[in-house]
Amino acid sequence: MFLAGNSFGKEFVITLFGESHGKCVGVIVDGCPAGLEFSEIEVQHDLDRRIPREPGISSSRIEEDKAELLSGTFQGRTTGAPIAMIVRNTNVDSQPYERFKDIPRPGHADYPARVRYGGFNDYRGGGRFTGRMTVAFVMAGAVAKKLLAHTGIEVLADTLSIENVYSRTNLTREELRAQVYTTPVRCGDREAAPLIQKAILEAAEAGDSVGGIVRAVAYGIPPGIGEPLFDSLDSELAKALFSIPAVKGVEFGSGFEAARSRGSQNNDPPTIRGGKVQFETNNAGGILGGLSTGSEIVVQVAFKPTPSIRRKQRSVNLASMKETELELGGRHDPCVVPKAVPVVEAVVSIVLADFMIRYGAIPKALK
Ligand SMILES: Cc1cc2nc3c(=O)[nH]c(=O)nc-3n(C[C@H](O)[C@H](O)[C@H](O)COP(=O)(O)O)c2cc1C
Repeated sequence: MFLAGNSFGKEFVITLFGESHGKCVGVIVDGCPAGLEFSEIEVQHDLDRRIPREPGISSSRIEEDKAELLSGTFQGRTTGAPIAMIVRNTNVDSQPYERFKDIPRPGHADYPARVRYGGFNDYRGGGRFTGRMTVAFVMAGAVAKKLLAHTGIEVLADTLSIENVYSRTNLTREELRAQVYTTPVRCGDREAAPLIQKAILEAAEAGDSVGGIVRAVAYGIPPGIGEPLFDSLDSELAKALFSIPAVKGVEFGSGFEAARSRGSQNNDPPTIRGGKVQFETNNAGGILGGLSTGSEIVVQVAFKPTPSIRRKQRSVNLASMKETELELGGRHDPCVVPKAVPVVEAVVSIVLADFMIRYGAIPKALK
């Protein structure tokens, strides 16, 4: 069946709707077990973490992003019915997009979207091809994280790098939990955070943008979760993570570095500790053969630099079929990475919640 690509999941199914400059952005979460304590407060908490409020780090389009929980809960708990959540778009300025509706913005989906939808797509703010859709991921992720907490699973994400500035790779679970959101750039390494912030502000100052890497670590996954081949844990995670706008690479554990190392360096020797199998190292990123090993799942997600920049760029006019130049107005993030940190955390949680429900590790009704 062709489902137009708006839904993800097998048991915990999310369907995203809305556009950047339409009335709202929203999500329907179907398949959430009944009895989960859940309210707008939890959704709001996660939405508030999506936007760094410090000047210069985020687009000047600051939305209030007030969550509205429309259905699927009763007396503070999920009922097992679809959970619908929206955030209304309130701070919308579509004027700049009228001037450029025939001029595709470099790095954006304007041209292929116009071809795909025969020109009927809402082009304002990128329409459906917009970072604003990540609001919906975060709202669904709030449900998923709450479910995972029931099984002792916790997903934590942070900014690993911006341009060539890297955070420490060995941050502990406690450091990730306590420190990431104390910095505007969502980096848990207190020494690297100001350097990362400087790199973003310098690019913005130059009318340019920068990319970077978000890392996510999932703690507490039991071994043996996953399927072979097409539904492997890593395929499902990669598919969902590639649905986030601006994602250009996903690697697990040592990732591309594995291609440059030898088997003797890359293999993770199993050991027995306290009567249990544990791996000495985790180059596999917690997944072998598409199945969880019981080690932490470690995934790195590469984001390209924000396509909308202040500098003059070359493009074409699709009405006159002539080459032209464009200088974008509008309001844009000089780097999408800080905003993307809670989004990656949400998406990894959504995929893991789906797997845990499939395996019966989360019952259909919670006590
Ligand atoms: C959280 C987030 C915020 C974003 N903000 C902007 C933005 O302000 N300006 C912009 O041009 N692109 C922004 N993007 C990226 C574009 O939405 C994305 O590059 C575009 O839709 C094309 O899709 P692609 O890069 O996946 O090919 C953002 C992406 C994310 C994840």
